[in-house]
Amino acid sequence: RSIKSLTTSPSSHILRRGYASEAVPERKVTVLGAAGGIGQPLSLLMKLNPLVSNLALYDIANTPGVAADVSHINTRSEVVGYASDAELGKALEGADVVIIPAGVPRKPGMTRDDLFNINAGIVKGLCEAIAKHCPNALVNMISNPVNSTVPIAAEVFKKAGTYDPKRLFGVTTLDVVRAKTFYAGKAMVPVAEVNVPVVGGHAGITILPLFSQATPKANLSDEVITALTKRTQDGGTEVVEAKAGKGSATLSMAYAGAIFADACLKGLNGVPDVIECSFVQSTVTELPFFASRVRLGKNGVEEVLGLGPLSDFEKEGLEKLKPELKSSIEKGIKFAIQ
Ligand code: NAD
Ligand code: LMR
Repeated sequence: RSIKSLTTSPSSHILRRGYASEAVPERKVTVLGAAGGIGQPLSLLMKLNPLVSNLALYDIANTPGVAADVSHINTRSEVVGYASDAELGKALEGADVVIIPAGVPRKPGMTRDDLFNINAGIVKGLCEAIAKHCPNALVNMISNPVNSTVPIAAEVFKKAGTYDPKRLFGVTTLDVVRAKTFYAGKAMVPVAEVNVPVVGGHAGITILPLFSQATPKANLSDEVITALTKRTQDGGTEVVEAKAGKGSATLSMAYAGAIFADACLKGLNGVPDVIECSFVQSTVTELPFFASRVRLGKNGVEEVLGLGPLSDFEKEGLEKLKPELKSSIEKGIKFAIQ
């Protein structure tokens, strides 16, 4: 059986048992921040992914318990926990995909940019280690503010001489997950069939869902589209407020992060037509980084896809988001090169 048929067929016990002896490539995935609110369920979901052969779980606190717990699950991957800065190199060595949910989350009343002061330094340190120990890994950046942490990572890699724009991704999959859920609720279509591209960035108005391109098509009024757009843009805040000081989205983010990492692995394994939205180096607009649909392949980004036809409402949203996104990108670059 081809890799494609293995990875796209519905899972079954028989199919899963087959993995050990069949030619599914060895793939190491490292999670940095693995014991956190996102890190724990994300590590669980990566342990369930049959494309993973080695799962490295790194955090500066509580790693041994999480790693021991996850390691008892009877799926393909070998799990190893790494608990201190001294072990970071070993956690990263040989990684094909590195997922970064390390850093502090928002509390009510904060913007994602309010996290910059703490998370910028965390991300910078982790990316320096990635440049040293696994310069060819695909990096899935979850830590906020994504609009700045991705440019920080790019600058760190440039300084180290390892930057490859095809291998650096800001994870915006949660925006897509939300847009699909909210759209299905209004359009009265099966949620599993829904597709909605979400472009721009990952904060407030920089999140631009393109409901004019949503499928299955539905005849929604302008008022409903405006409300769906706002709910998608404020989805993170909705969760932050509901958690009332106990953090931000973790479970839905773990799901979204697992979807994106799985897409990266499928691309690496040569599965054709793997397309996800992501915040990447881009020439789609005049901004150096921008989220749009990207085709994933053996080298990471195979192709950054354009925006397609936009409604007048979306064209307006696109122009409105550019100044904020530009300044968040510049803030990240300035921090990293100082
Ligand atoms: P959390 O506080 O529950 O977990 C963060 C984890 O990171 C902790 O276990 C902590 O020990 C660890 N950590 C801190 N510094 C580290 C370092 N130098 N190396 C390794 N690990 C380190 O937070 P959370 O809820 O998991 O959120 C993590 C980040 O993800 C936040 O910045 C949050 O804003 C962001 N986030 C992004 C999205 C997105 O869509 N991209 C969605 C939700 C949350
Ligand atoms: C989200 O969209 O849920 C995350 O970016 C976390 C947050 O702070 O909103």
